[in-house]
Amino acid sequence: MSGGIALVKSETVIVQVPATTANCGPGFDALGIACNIYNKLELTLTEENKIEIEISGEGVGYLPINEKNLIWKVVKDVIDKTGAAYNGAVIKMHNDVPLSRGLGSSAAAIVAGIVAANYALGEPFNKQDVLEMATAVEGHPDNVAPAIFGGMTVSLCSQSAVKTISFLPKLPLKMIVAVPKFFLSTKKARKALPESIPIKDASFNIAHVASLVAAMCTGNADVLSYAFDDKLHQPYRAELIPGMYDVFAAAKKAGALGAALSGAGPSLIAFSLDNEEEIGRAMVETFSKYQVPSSYLLLNIDTVGTHRIG
Ligand code: HSE
Repeated sequence: MSGGIALVKSETVIVQVPATTANCGPGFDALGIACNIYNKLELTLTEENKIEIEISGEGVGYLPINEKNLIWKVVKDVIDKTGAAYNGAVIKMHNDVPLSRGLGSSAAAIVAGIVAANYALGEPFNKQDVLEMATAVEGHPDNVAPAIFGGMTVSLCSQSAVKTISFLPKLPLKMIVAVPKFFLSTKKARKALPESIPIKDASFNIAHVASLVAAMCTGNADVLSYAFDDKLHQPYRAELIPGMYDVFAAAKKAGALGAALSGAGPSLIAFSLDNEEEIGRAMVETFSKYQVPSSYLLLNIDTVGTHRIG
């Protein structure tokens, strides 16, 4: 209450947003897959110039609960774009997506904030607008696109637009993610990359990413024991993740089709059609040989993307 007049609040909106794994090996900044672990965001916009933030699950005691909170920042941007008279918000989040581990936690926060604010404001923006806004905040589309659309996504940024195609692979692909117990920021992992790479490495990646997408679209798995390989970013990031290539080899030995860094890491992801438990155990055991404690998640593709659940 203020001056005896009830302050206006928006309708309360609850959205669910999936985790995502980006790059899939050779598809640096372009490929992504939505995964079936989720964060939930409950948002009410208020006229009062005050924010209340409650967090449960991942990030408690670590994520800011003041105006520096990423969800609040994107919510405020969306409000400002519409000129609506809201100045504050009540934000409640429950996070199951591991933080700073290469499973798209920042993309999940950005997309959840934009989508929830859009619903609370009466949907002035469409999904393409959401994609463009989220990409502008994140800096690249490969996590935000699958978080928005679900499935596997191929994205490009041109000077004037961000374009994404989302599809469901024609293979019953399982994902096994070994999650080490240390954080690695995307900023640090991007700093490890060189300014340029040799043309032969660029052409290696073009052939591999094209083969990977073709295999997913046709269901032809023949190339998959090669197609997750990468020469563009993983070799430069290996020093940040002890045992990375040995964990890949252990996953393949246990039956995986291929393995890769999940996003910028530090999680490592294996792709398989079966043997998931065995692959997960092999990955964790191999990490432990390098004194890296870890656990594994068995994931499926989320087919829906971010949507309203309340
Ligand atoms: N494409 C990004 C990277 C994903 O590898 O740096 C992490 O956000």
